[in-house]
Formats: sequence, C-alpha cells, structure tokens
Amino acid sequence: PKGTPDIDASALTIEKTTAPKPLLDAKDLIFGRTFTDHMLSVEWTAQDGWLPPRITPYQNLSLDPATCVLHYAFTCFEGMKAYKDADDRIRLFRPDRNMHRLNRSSARIALPTFNHDTFIDLISKFVNLEERFIPKQKGYSLYLRPTMIGTQKTLGVGPPGSALLYLIASPVGPYYPTGFKAVTLEATEYAVRAWPGGVGDRKLGANYAPCIVPQIDAAKRGFQQNLWLFGEEGYVTEVGTMNMFVAWVNEEGVKELITAPLDGTILEGVTRESVLALARERLVPEGWQVSEKKFTMAQMKKAADEGRLLEAFGAGTAAVVSPIKGVSWRNQDIKIPLSPGKETGPLAEKFWNWISEIQYGETSHPWSYVVPK
Ligand code: COI
Repeated sequence: PKGTPDIDASALTIEKTTAPKPLLDAKDLIFGRTFTDHMLSVEWTAQDGWLPPRITPYQNLSLDPATCVLHYAFTCFEGMKAYKDADDRIRLFRPDRNMHRLNRSSARIALPTFNHDTFIDLISKFVNLEERFIPKQKGYSLYLRPTMIGTQKTLGVGPPGSALLYLIASPVGPYYPTGFKAVTLEATEYAVRAWPGGVGDRKLGANYAPCIVPQIDAAKRGFQQNLWLFGEEGYVTEVGTMNMFVAWVNEEGVKELITAPLDGTILEGVTRESVLALARERLVPEGWQVSEKKFTMAQMKKAADEGRLLEAFGAGTAAVVSPIKGVSWRNQDIKIPLSPGKETGPLAEKFWNWISEIQYGETSHPWSYVVPK
C-alpha cells in the first residue's frame, strides 16, 4: 500500500489476539518483563512515507541480520505511562512532551518524524484495547514504550531508507526491585555517560548499553545505580534512569532545590520538568530557591559535612520520584537524610504525592490527559 507524508490514524487496522494472556498479580510485576496482548506498528519508507498503522497481536519482529538498527544503533524510544483513575478512566501524563522528545531523538539519528497528536490518538486507541492490563493501584500503571528503529537492510552507513515506529506496553509497579524505598548511588568518574556536543540529551538506545558495565560494578559494591559525574570538577549530571535533584541550604544560607541544567548532556526528563514547575509554583512561595545550575560532588560533600544537605531524589517516568539515601564518592559515603522512620525525605514525598495526584486524576490538572473512549 502507498503511504502518506504523515501518519494517518484513520487508516488504523486492528487484528485482535485469539490467545489473551492471563493477568499477573500487581505484586508479581517485574518492571518491563511482561507485556500486553497487542502491539501497534507503523512502517515508514523514504519512498512511500508512512504506511497504515496496525494493531496486531504482540509478536516477534522479523529482521534481516543486516538490518541497520542491529549494526549502527538506529533506535530511540520513550517511556510513558497509562494510569487508571478512580472513575476507571484512562489517563496519560503530558504525552505531548514524550512525542516532542521522540521526534527530537529520531531526527538526531536520521529517522522520520511525525505529528504528535496523531500518534497520541493511536496510543489512545491502543490503551483502550489493552485496558484490562492497566493496574488500578496507585504506584502501578501500564508502562508504554514507543520505539523507533531503522529497518533498512544495509551495512552501508547512511540514513535508513525505512523505519518502524512501534508501541509495546508492560504493566508495572515500582522500577527498583527494592520497591518504594530509598536507593543508594555510586558516583562514577572512571566512565562518562554523556559529553558536550554528544547525544546524552536524546533518548537513544545507544546511550543505555554502555552504562551497564559500570552499573554491574556499582551493584557489586552494593549500590543500585550510578550517579554520572562529568569533568575534572566532578559535576553531578544524572543517574541514567532518572534526573537528579538535591535539596540543601546553599552557601548563602538559602534553601535550594537544585538540578543540573539542560546543557546537552542531560536527558530532558518529563518528570524533571514537572518537578521544576511544581517547585516553582509551590516551594518558591515558601522561601525555596529553585535552580537549574551546575553543581559538584565536592559541594554536596561539603554540604553534608556542614549539616546543610537536606535531601536528594531522582525523578523519571519509570522511577517516578525516587528518594536517595546515600551517595558514595571516592570511597566516602555521603549520608542523605530521610524523614524519621521513613524511606523517603519530606520533599521527595511531597513531589511523589503531587505528581501521582495528577497522574491518577485525583486532582484536575492540565498535565493529565484523559484518554477518549
Ligand atoms: C523511563 O523513565 O521511562 C526511562 O526511560 C528510564 C529507563 C527505564 C530506561
């Protein structure tokens, strides 16, 4: 079939599964291990444009061993979630932000771009079909993984002449196997995740695989994740699965919530952007300063030593808001305060509550998108 210059949602065809999968208990969900009954696929070719979107039973892809994604990493993705509200409506959280970022990622690796609203329409149709897989409990959701790959069969290094945009979905609970508990990080200096002029700000598959060996090393020493530093100054960048926030009383004696600026080395997290916006709206009136500014591990250590370090947490779609209880840096353990008797600090708890309230539609907010039936 001939395609269209942009995706045509009205051309969608749906082939339902004849073998519906059993649902797992929420407590048995492991992040990203089990998937729903169906997948959504849209093929693109340089010659014909976008072909009609298809929802089919979840199935293997068939790729020639020479397919360019397998050799040169033409792959980018998004992480987003579908939530069930108290009235059984399905909600997405700021899906336009994910579509914007997916287009920026795909454009960076010579893959096609598409209209945001059209793909949100298709996602809506897909999540309606997969509704029974969306867990109803707070903290649980249906994780959506839009992915785009280059599918041209060639070992030549060049722009892919064909691509596949697809969507799969996995019912999930907490990202970390420890559950809703504070995590510990190891500050990593012997490897770098991203660098100026690189692609650390795009959600490319190629950014993730190189982080696994350092993650294994950190895990051997008892840490859940790496905290990626940059440069001789030891700038704190991000965690790789989440953006990093620190709360301290700064050198000027002001309560400050700080995160690294979007200088091209930081993933432009939707949760990061949301935490910043909520902080500006709700913490600034309480006397907080909110900063997107470079800061170093040495400053964090000094703040801890002087009793000025208040809290640290990560923010990401998969991890939501994840309290951090310690960072190890050059063999020194920096202990990060938590609320007495709790696995979270007060700010992380606040943000988790504020953001989940919006995600689960407990409060009406423009960031929450109610999926039309
Ligand atoms: C997300 O937060 O959705 C991510 O993409 C991080 C990780 C699971 C790859």
